[in-house]
Amino acid sequence: MSATLESIPPYVFYELDARRAAARAAGKSLIDVGIGSPDGPIPPVVVEAMQRAAADRQLSGYPHFQAHPAFQQAVAGYLGARFGVSVNPAKELLALAGSKEGIAELILSHTRAGDVVLIPEVYYPVYARATLLAGAEPVFVPFLSDGRLDLDAITPAQAARAKVMIVNYPGNPTTTSVSLDELARYVEFARVHDILLLSDLAYSELSFDGYQVPSVLQVPGAHDVAVETHTCSKSFNMAGVRIAFVAGQAAAIARADSYRSNIGYGVSTMAQLAGAAAFTHHVDIVPPIVAEYRARRDAIVSAFNAGGWPVSAPRSTMYLWLDVPAGFGDWEWVDALIAGPGVVVTPGLAFGEAGRGKFRVSLVQPSEKLVLAAGGIVATVPRH
Ligand SMILES: Cc1ncc(COP(=O)(O)O)c(C=O)c1O
Repeated sequence: MSATLESIPPYVFYELDARRAAARAAGKSLIDVGIGSPDGPIPPVVVEAMQRAAADRQLSGYPHFQAHPAFQQAVAGYLGARFGVSVNPAKELLALAGSKEGIAELILSHTRAGDVVLIPEVYYPVYARATLLAGAEPVFVPFLSDGRLDLDAITPAQAARAKVMIVNYPGNPTTTSVSLDELARYVEFARVHDILLLSDLAYSELSFDGYQVPSVLQVPGAHDVAVETHTCSKSFNMAGVRIAFVAGQAAAIARADSYRSNIGYGVSTMAQLAGAAAFTHHVDIVPPIVAEYRARRDAIVSAFNAGGWPVSAPRSTMYLWLDVPAGFGDWEWVDALIAGPGVVVTPGLAFGEAGRGKFRVSLVQPSEKLVLAAGGIVATVPRH
C-alpha cells in the first residue's frame, strides 16, 4: 500500500457498513437512515435518455475529455434559468463522474505537499482525504454559532499557505444554509488571499419553506476566484448514475481537466446525456422530489417532538443533525440503536472530530419508516 494511503485513517462509512452487515447477518431487520443515498427512482425522462444513448451506435466509443455538447448546453441553460449565472461551456465547465471524485480531482490538481486546504470543521470526508492524498495539510475552520465559517480563526500564516478553501452550504451533515451576502464574504476572502474557493453545492435543489439556495457564481467577480460543484445525485435521485459538473474559474477547470486526462477518459456519454435530460427538465423533476423530502422531514420532526425530543425542521438538505444523548459515546449510541430498535444512523465523527457528540439521520426512507425510526431512537434514551 502507498505510504500516503496508509497514513489516512479508515473511512467511517466502511466501519458502519461492517456493523450493518453483521446485524443483518444475525437476522436483525433494520431501518437504514445512515448513508445519504436517495431511495427514489431515476426520473422517467432521464431513464429514456439513457436508454436512447445506450442504443446509439455513434456513442459507444470513448467519450471526449470535453463535456458532450448536449450536456454543456443543458447545464448552461440550467445555471442561467436557476441562478441567472452564465458560463462559457468550453472553458468554465467540466463534466464529472460524481462530485465526490470531482472535488478530489480539483484538490489534487491544485495543491502540492506543504500547501494548506481550508476545510469547514464538520465536513464531507473527501475534502480532508483528498487533501491528505495530495500530501497537503487540512486546516479545519471553526463554525460561528450560526454555522457560518469563522474566517477570523484562520491565522495569516495559514492563509498564506492556503491554496483552496472549501465551503458547503447547504451543509452535509450540518444542514446549515447561508445567504448570498455570506457567500460574497468567502469570495472576498479568497480574492484577498489568492485562494481558490471551492463551493460544494450538492444540495442546490433540496430546500423548503420558500428558501432558494444561492450559487456562489451569483456573486459578482466569483468566476475569477471560485469554482462550484453541482451533482445530479441528490436533486434528481441519480446517485448511481455518477454525473455531476464543476463550473467557474477557467484556470482551475483546465487544471482539473488536465489531471483527469492522465488517469481516465471523459465522463460516460450515457451518464452525460442522462444529466442533460435532468438539467433540461429540472423545473418538472425537482418539485415532486422536494415535496417528498419535505413530507418526510415534517413527519420525522413531528415524531421526535411528540416523543419529547425537541428537534427543529431544517430548511435544506435531506438530513437531521442531532445531539447524541448524554451518557453515550458516539459508537456506543450507534450500536445501541442497531441492537435495540434496529435503526442505522451515522456517527458525527464520520464528518471529523468536531462532529463528535452528534449523529446524522438521512431522510432516505418513506415517512412511515422514518416515524418508526424516530420512535425507536426516542425509546432508546434511558428515562430518569
Ligand atoms: C456535501 C456533499 N458533497 C458531495 C457529495 C457527493 O456527491 P456525488 O454523488 O456527486 O459524488 C455528497 C454526497 O453525499 C455530499 O453530501
